[in-house]
Amino acid sequence: MAKLAKMQNLLSRSMGWAVVSMNIIIFCFLTDESHCSLQHVRSAKKIGDSLNFLVVGDWGRKGLYNQSRVATQMGRIGEELDIDFVISTGDNFYENGLTGIDDPSFEESFSGIYTAKSLQTPWYSVLGNHDYRGNALAQLSPSLRSQDHRWQCERSFILKYTIYPHDLQSGGGSADFFFVDTTPFVDHYWKPSKNTYDWRGVLPREKYLNQQLQDLQVALETSTATWKIVIGHHTIRSVGSHGDTEEMIHQILPIIEAYGVDLYVNGHDHCLEHISSVNSPLQFLTSGGGSKAWRGMKEGANMEGLQFFHNGQGFMSVQIQATLLHVVFYDVEGSTVHELNLLKEGLSVS
Ligand SMILES: *[C@@H]1O[C@H](CO)[C@@H](O)[C@H](O)[C@H]1NC(C)=O
Repeated sequence: MAKLAKMQNLLSRSMGWAVVSMNIIIFCFLTDESHCSLQHVRSAKKIGDSLNFLVVGDWGRKGLYNQSRVATQMGRIGEELDIDFVISTGDNFYENGLTGIDDPSFEESFSGIYTAKSLQTPWYSVLGNHDYRGNALAQLSPSLRSQDHRWQCERSFILKYTIYPHDLQSGGGSADFFFVDTTPFVDHYWKPSKNTYDWRGVLPREKYLNQQLQDLQVALETSTATWKIVIGHHTIRSVGSHGDTEEMIHQILPIIEAYGVDLYVNGHDHCLEHISSVNSPLQFLTSGGGSKAWRGMKEGANMEGLQFFHNGQGFMSVQIQATLLHVVFYDVEGSTVHELNLLKEGLSVS
């Protein structure tokens, strides 16, 4: 308990903090000056044996294409696992993001869909390429957060969680989450096409990308967390219809493999996937089955390390303990379709 008191004391001395849901989670905003980079760090703690969350991507279609059915199952599994938050891997609103902060899609595709009690937790979200086709700044606006307190969307940020088990003797764990803005990395979106992208805040591109890469490297290098998880919209490795993303393989992958990242979690391909790196313990997990799916596999896809592919809707859950990380993939009916366990001591994958 002395450890806890010390932590609380430390938190109350930081810039500002708020107690949420009966002292279970304390958020503190250590550095708040930079909202558009990985220098923005949020810290939180979980008192309990494991940190639990769901991951869904590519969803906002006003309940259509089974979005509502997936939402119902997320609510049920969220309740079972008593989740702490939800991660959205982007493409939050189809087809073209939000038109502005008063776009009714926010209510029709988010607030009015994910209504289950268990889903009334923070939704940590990144932007996808479809979000950049609309008013990207609207999704980042604090005004959306005041319409629905769950909405926590930033281009890139870090979430640091410390886990304090009830039995402190058994020791705690920690997990750092690095949310990366991947759309600006992809050359395709910068070429003339019928779609326009809202690059406000991203120009000049070269500087923006270099800053993100540098921030990611420094953040990973200095992270002392047991578990390191990187989240972005675009695939690094995928056998789904978009396949691997070359820009991500060349620019992001070398950094995350160099610093022992455990999971890279993405959407973009509208399916569920698990691919193991053959060069490191890194696992590539795709959770992009929030609504429209059934695009199949990419012809001639790189099958290296493929463990699991589900061509259909669904979502994913993650439970993190000090030495064990447990992932489950669920289909549209909420049935388990794949699981994996990572162990920290003598790491093994099953
Ligand atoms: C919705 O899910 C059901 C049940 O798996 C499936 O039969 C149907 O094709 C899905 N609909 C769409 C639009 O994907």
